[in-house]
Amino acid sequence: MHNDEEGKSIGLSYFTERGLRSDTIEKFKLGFCPGDGETFTRIASNTGYKVELLQQLGLTSQYGKDFFRGRVMFPIHSITGKVLGFGGRTLSADKKIPKYINSPETDIYLKSKIVFGIFQARKAITQLEECYLVEGYMDVISLSQSGIENVVASSGTSLTQDQVRLIKRYTPNLTILYDGDSAGVKAALRGLEIALEEGMNVKVVLLPADDDPDTYVQKLGADGFRKYIEDNKKDLIHLKTDLYLEDAKGDPVKVAGIIKDIVQSIAKIPDGITRSLYLKQTARNLNVEEQLLISETNKILRKGAFDKLSTNDKASVEHTEIMPVAKEQPSFTFHLDEAQERDIIRLLLENSNFEIDGENAIARILRNLTDVEFENGIYRKVVDEYRTYYEHNEFLPQVFFINHDDEEIKSLCIDLLQSPYEISDNWIKMHDVPITEKQFLVRKDIVKSISLLKLKKIIKMKHDVDARIQELGKLTDEASIDEVRMCMKESMQLQTIINKLAKDTGTTVLPVVS
Ligand code: CTP
Ligand code: MN
Repeated sequence: MHNDEEGKSIGLSYFTERGLRSDTIEKFKLGFCPGDGETFTRIASNTGYKVELLQQLGLTSQYGKDFFRGRVMFPIHSITGKVLGFGGRTLSADKKIPKYINSPETDIYLKSKIVFGIFQARKAITQLEECYLVEGYMDVISLSQSGIENVVASSGTSLTQDQVRLIKRYTPNLTILYDGDSAGVKAALRGLEIALEEGMNVKVVLLPADDDPDTYVQKLGADGFRKYIEDNKKDLIHLKTDLYLEDAKGDPVKVAGIIKDIVQSIAKIPDGITRSLYLKQTARNLNVEEQLLISETNKILRKGAFDKLSTNDKASVEHTEIMPVAKEQPSFTFHLDEAQERDIIRLLLENSNFEIDGENAIARILRNLTDVEFENGIYRKVVDEYRTYYEHNEFLPQVFFINHDDEEIKSLCIDLLQSPYEISDNWIKMHDVPITEKQFLVRKDIVKSISLLKLKKIIKMKHDVDARIQELGKLTDEASIDEVRMCMKESMQLQTIINKLAKDTGTTVLPVVS
């Protein structure tokens, strides 16, 4: 786009006309695919890319033609800045031609797991402790150029849980900026519920009907745009109340429907305290008894627990008419931070020949990682590979990774083995040890640290459940009594896990005195 006549006169001038500066074009690595339908594939293949591979990636058609011909190109980057796929926008105004086409799903481009712009936005997201979610590529780019850099797009697909989890690694605060038209409202509500289910603190801002973030920030400027967001942020309750209540005009049947709908959404919030705050607020807004909303929510929660039971258990529950209680031990997934994930990869690489208490170190580490989910894609690949071989009782040696076919894995492992040992501060926090001892301690004891991490999390969970029991203790309605019964069972199960983990880590757990 920068060196070729067609690229400059068509591609570059399109972006310039839309108001993009050259630093912005560079930052998002925007480009152009020539219109003859052959140039891209020819140059790529001359450069050494196999045509079959280009076809697999959806860049070249099965007839050998450029898939994105004549389009301006938006690369979709991984969190570390590698290109996973592309969106391409037509320059033609012809309504019969799709405005955007996107790379197909491939081994590297998993659409539901990435959001557009995260690589460019992640620093600002962490700094500002908030992430804006918009619909389009141009919205992200235009906001970013104006100085509002904490912005990503789900681009083309509706927001998924994995995308929310990705954002949640950088901030718990999500603000969805969608169009105010009916499709936008629908999409915003869906996104809101998904983010709530993931425990995010999520707000929605609806933009004026004829604008999108791109056009609107060009009108208002960055400060005006930010102010608009702050003035128009709505949480779930406010959004739904505003949207529907107007429509119901006091009709009690309709209002009842709305209340049920809102309670359904609130029941999806994982955290009990947040849930009860939302219920309190809804009761006030809609002028209904809070207690009524609480028992409605409890009904939904119980039904949720019931639905999770096997058919057999359901039958026996119905037979004896006792409220269902989750039977299996609750299962949990634990997450480490990125540096902790890296520490573990390094530990695996360094210790294939060692034994801890007569057990191969890799086996020992993997056993401790059974319920730990790796989020960083490349680290996960490495761990998965260790896990696969471990299932066959094989412990991969270092050289396996140093000579790996996958260039990314190979260079990661070489880097790790060559760079000086750094340790995630989070291990340290868990041990409360002075910095001078940390290298030694952590290196020796990361395995134990994982158990300690789990232990802390479970203790916190038990603490929350116990607090809920206390809180419900005062209530005598049937729903509350049922919930207490469920909570007590859960509390006991958690205690069992605590005892086991405490034994594993040689930790004494003091009872929490409140
Ligand atoms: N999109 C898509 N395929 C389409 C239309 C849209 O994948 N046929 C996705 C693109 O990611 C696009 C987003 O949905 O960025 C929003 O679409 P739209 O609002 O139509 O486009 P804008 O982003 O406003 O694009 P532009 O400003 O370039 O017209
Ligand atoms: Mn637009």
